[in-house]
Amino acid sequence: MEEFWKVLAPRITVLVTTMDAKGRADVAPFSFVSPVSFNPPLLMISVGTNKHSYWSIMQKKEFVVNIPTESMLEKIWVAGEKWDPEVSKIERAGLKTAPSEKVGPPILPECVASLECYVEDAKKYGDHVIIIARVIKTHVNEEFLDEEGRLKVDLVRPPLHVADNLFAFPYVTKEA
Ligand SMILES: Cc1cc2nc3c(=O)[nH]c(=O)nc-3n(C[C@H](O)[C@H](O)[C@H](O)COP(=O)(O)O)c2cc1C
Repeated sequence: MEEFWKVLAPRITVLVTTMDAKGRADVAPFSFVSPVSFNPPLLMISVGTNKHSYWSIMQKKEFVVNIPTESMLEKIWVAGEKWDPEVSKIERAGLKTAPSEKVGPPILPECVASLECYVEDAKKYGDHVIIIARVIKTHVNEEFLDEEGRLKVDLVRPPLHVADNLFAFPYVTKEA
């Protein structure tokens, strides 16, 4: 089944901000994403080699993972459009930005959190490259976390990607 990934759904979706060698910032949504290690803090994203984000990440060895809320759904969809050197997707999507502390690409302050990352490793599998990155600085909007530092899921309602332009919002939280 070529489209097996459509049944591995719904998936957490992040907005990755990058900056290319010419200093142009870009944004794109990614749902092939996962934490990898607590210590050191590592995460992975799987990026198609035909994406502008891919080239920027490989050139600059840094990027920012921004975790969006339900209210950003339209912006996520615009961020998924093809790279256009003439028009910034960040502007087209109406995304606000702020400078990062340690990396070139901007953070998206409307998001729940922004994770500044350095690339540790990259390995090609099929038509994607798994990028392992170290989280070197975390920005969190505390209003989205409870006293234990856990995500207020029913407030954030993270958009979960199903496929194409379909997202799921299946939220009820229960303590085990
Ligand atoms: C919700 C969503 C999730 C996506 N997840 C991924 C992903 O995990 N990996 C990937 O390579 N592309 C993914 N894409 C596709 C890219 O976002 C899309 O190709 C985008 O145009 C890349 O932009 P860029 O060329 O500016 O980097 C996803 C698209 C959407 C809408």
